[in-house]
Amino acid sequence: MKIIETNNYQEMSEKAAHFLIKKVQDNPAIILGMATGGTPEGMYRLLIDDHKNNHTSYQGVTTFNLDEYIGLPKDDANSYYSYMWKTLFDHIDINDEHVHLPNGLATNIEEECKNYERLIKQYGGIDVQVLGIGENGHIGFNEPGTAFDSHTHVIELTDSTREANSRYFSNIYEVPKEAITMGIHTIMQAKEIVLLASGERKAEALNQLLHAEISEAFPASILQKHSNVTIIADRDALKHISHVTV
Ligand code: GLP
Repeated sequence: MKIIETNNYQEMSEKAAHFLIKKVQDNPAIILGMATGGTPEGMYRLLIDDHKNNHTSYQGVTTFNLDEYIGLPKDDANSYYSYMWKTLFDHIDINDEHVHLPNGLATNIEEECKNYERLIKQYGGIDVQVLGIGENGHIGFNEPGTAFDSHTHVIELTDSTREANSRYFSNIYEVPKEAITMGIHTIMQAKEIVLLASGERKAEALNQLLHAEISEAFPASILQKHSNVTIIADRDALKHISHVTV
């Protein structure tokens, strides 16, 4: 695993943006796996700046998001669909037919999960998957205990995840109880993974990601088995990690 340590959130966002911009420039038809949450927001802002100033084009790029809440309409301010359009897609030249998120309002959710997985395969799999990490080690919305061989599936969100994400809602009761998420197997099939983390509240999670025994109790620990992972994290998030290779 390659670890890139930065001084702060801004620098993490810059390194992550450069990383992705280079990938898109090297392969304009790249298949990107996208993440939501507070962590990648700075990176997305810089992708927009770069698109405006340097004209990096996303016309040939295809995206698949990691996850979506069940029960929120697409236009709900808190759906991940809204997040992605507001935070990135509305500001770059991506073709909306190339953008994919699970549909959290599908009438047949099981079928929706199977179709999402099938579609990723049809496109030949994800070239670069962006990940954040939950304090409890979740990746996507794969909560502790999720099977390592899981494909896109429905997950019941833990109270701690709902609590952490309630900052975007008016109160915790409005945070959906379930989500659709790519499975751990789906994420591990990505050819390359870049995981972003910032701040002290992620320090223990990064420590476990790197050093804990690989176990379904801590989903992100599976990344130890992936052959091409880059972690871009700031000093606070890496405070328990002593030997950082840059
Ligand atoms: C959310 C998302 C994850 C994200 C995580 C951390 O629940 N489903 O994909 O990585 O929480 O979010 P944040 O970056 O806001 O800390």
